[in-house]
Amino acid sequence: MGRQFFVGGNFKMNGTIDSIKEIVNNLNSATCDSNTEVVIAPPALYLLLTREHLRAGIEVAAQNVFDRPNGAFTGEISVAQLKDSNITWTVLGHSERRVILQETNKFVADKTKAALDGGIGVILCCGETLEQREAEKTMDVVLAQLKAVSDVQKDWSKIVVAYEPVWAIGTGKVASNEQAQEVHKGIREWLGEELGKEVAEKTRVIYGGSVSEKNCRELAKEGDIDGFLVGGASLKPAFVDIINARK
Ligand code: G3P
Repeated sequence: MGRQFFVGGNFKMNGTIDSIKEIVNNLNSATCDSNTEVVIAPPALYLLLTREHLRAGIEVAAQNVFDRPNGAFTGEISVAQLKDSNITWTVLGHSERRVILQETNKFVADKTKAALDGGIGVILCCGETLEQREAEKTMDVVLAQLKAVSDVQKDWSKIVVAYEPVWAIGTGKVASNEQAQEVHKGIREWLGEELGKEVAEKTRVIYGGSVSEKNCRELAKEGDIDGFLVGGASLKPAFVDIINARK
């Protein structure tokens, strides 16, 4: 059985009550490929509003979650609170958090484990900077990010890996089909060696970085690209075209 195509929309720190309602209404009335799993990640403040207005069949993700149980952690949101609010996924390890907020591989791994233990699916981001790519360190960086997770978590059935080269995020500079496929294939081979053939075959590895309605169809043809994590374009009606990239 093939891997189900997965498209996530990461709104990042964008949107207002009105604009998010508009995006949700657009998705509610759109004809989306029923073979695509769709998950949108609005800012934390709008998670409940999104869940309340969004039609069944499309899931909602947080953009982050903390790894401790409820308690004195100002500014954080717990796994239990996501569950309580019917939020079934979280993005973790996004490069904007790794780079700007200095989240370490270990911290991302601990949060991944906490989310999965609590029944929340994880869109686990990884990716190299331009400097790292030019130094031919892409696979070292990406696999170190993933290895930190496999050290603490062996069940990857609720993890979707999002390969997002940092140099392609929000820059309009999309990775070529070959560049993306090469890394996705490397990730899948590593999954096979680290966690076994079945995990390698079943885990979705999606691509993020300047995905648009223009480039998504070609990227989606690559054998190891199982979907997308979309930033800027997920705020626009064209997001539906990306959901339907394989239709
Ligand atoms: O998580 C999605 C992302 O980082 C890509 O953003 O705006 O380049 O599609 P964007």
